[in-house]
Amino acid sequence: MTPITTETDIARADHKRTWHVNHDAVDMLTAPAPAPPMGCADRGDFVSAMAAAVNGVNVVTTDGTAGRFGITVSAMSSVSADPPMVLVCINRRSPACAAVRANRAFSVNVLSTRQRHVADTFAGRPARGEPYDFADALWTRGATGAPRLLDAISTFDCVLEKAYDAGSHIIFLGRVVAANEGGGSPLLYTARAYGYPCHWD
Ligand SMILES: Cc1cc2nc3c(=O)[nH]c(=O)nc-3n(C[C@H](O)[C@H](O)[C@H](O)COP(=O)(O)O)c2cc1C
Repeated sequence: MTPITTETDIARADHKRTWHVNHDAVDMLTAPAPAPPMGCADRGDFVSAMAAAVNGVNVVTTDGTAGRFGITVSAMSSVSADPPMVLVCINRRSPACAAVRANRAFSVNVLSTRQRHVADTFAGRPARGEPYDFADALWTRGATGAPRLLDAISTFDCVLEKAYDAGSHIIFLGRVVAANEGGGSPLLYTARAYGYPCHWD
């Protein structure tokens, strides 16, 4: 088989794959779907399959009567544009979880490739200095009082709308009161390692 060496070769190979029809798979999908199983996937299977997915990296911060906290999260998503809403999922064992619930506000700071050290600091494993230390980066304060990271890819300052129990985590739904785009290249995370985008198509 000829090795694929150029971007044009990759495009051609992708194009060929598009036209390869797997008839067994098509037959399987035309059969009626079985009743959904009652149990859960094996935890190990779930964790390793999820580790293979790719995510952006964010630091969720909060400040208020319950104190100032930050935590690195990959579980962040846009929910709605009208009104603007996002969600984040935080492990209920993290002190940041109780603080977001009590402060009723949080900020989502989307990290750039230059902010990998901030991800490590707020994941409790700083290269140097203290874990969860805001002195490791430059911050300003958003309208809700939550710390907002300078030079982030983007920031979403949120008022807490609702919190949902979801197994080991709490899903926090936030109404976005201020959104800012800072530019730069977003930090990625997959296979328990950071990644740097090198090609967008
Ligand atoms: C890239 C990355 C993504 C993470 N995503 C989440 C997340 O979405 N939600 C969460 O609760 N913790 C997440 N964590 C874990 C927390 O940041 C943090 O490591 C953990 O709460 C630390 O707990 P410990 O100090 O008790 O070990 C993530 C960590 C990393 C490095």
